[in-house]
Amino acid sequence: MNQHDTDQFKVKAEPFYRVVAGEDELYEAAYARRMPVMLKGPTGCGKSRFVEYMAWKLGRPLITVACNEDMTASDLVGRFLLDKDGTKWQDGPLTMAARIGAICYLDEIVEARQDTTVVIHPITDHRRQLPLDKKGELVDAHPDFQLVISYNPGYQSLMKDLKQSTKQRFAALDFDYPEAAIEADIVAREAGVDGETAKKLVQIAHRTRNLKGHGLDEGISTRLLVYAGQMIAEGVDPVAACQMTLVTPLTDDPDMRQTLQAAVETFFV
Ligand SMILES: Nc1ncnc2c1ncn2[C@@H]1O[C@H](COP(=O)(O)OP(=O)(O)OP(=O)(O)O)[C@@H](O)[C@H]1O
Ligand SMILES: [Mg+2]
Repeated sequence: MNQHDTDQFKVKAEPFYRVVAGEDELYEAAYARRMPVMLKGPTGCGKSRFVEYMAWKLGRPLITVACNEDMTASDLVGRFLLDKDGTKWQDGPLTMAARIGAICYLDEIVEARQDTTVVIHPITDHRRQLPLDKKGELVDAHPDFQLVISYNPGYQSLMKDLKQSTKQRFAALDFDYPEAAIEADIVAREAGVDGETAKKLVQIAHRTRNLKGHGLDEGISTRLLVYAGQMIAEGVDPVAACQMTLVTPLTDDPDMRQTLQAAVETFFV
């Protein structure tokens, strides 16, 4: 068996996370029962930061896996590797988390193929076991182990969605961009800009969020607002900072860029 260094996965310093609607208490109650949890919400709204914060608060190691469509079940549970002495089993991140009692965060699980996703079934029901078929081992999850997944609603096509039998193994928390005053607080604190500047950035974001489905796939996220604030805090002219962080990343459509640019200039010229 592999030796795993639990300390390596501990969240060392308290991550800054602004609680929006009691989600920390809800998560804690779910964790008390080791209930699998799904975090739903658009990109850059704080899901990953929340998991880091909760792992820190609960004192659990955190193992994060970014899922993609090429990912196989072996990438999660582990595989035999060849070395000079022959073959050696190497635990995948999910197996490692199950052994050490970590919180395992599967980011964008829906990207993974369904035959990959089903490996989480036995570990997310009453069995709490992970079968390592190739190795012929059945791993009992450590009592502190918990599985958390993220999910961007709206990005799914019919072909690419979680099966009901996967979805219904999780309790779920809805995430969204927080109300203006809170989001401005977050941006001010994360980027190191004054409250006025942060408020303006949030107002620009609100305009773009209203354009979702009307020429934009997604409005400006909290993450991009933090980037804009950071550029401004570096001394970059606000219009140029917004161009680089709020306009150019979001769309390639020249008309839409002009619309966004005009929104920026309303607040910063
Ligand atoms: N409630 C919050 N408290 C503190 N920071 C926040 C909060 N919400 C968003 N942020 C900021 O927004 C950034 C993006 O958040 P995060 O990376 O958690 O997004 P996400 O929801 O995981 O996005 P994705 O789905 O793209 O992975 C964070 O780095 C942080 O600066
Ligand atoms: Mg994330």
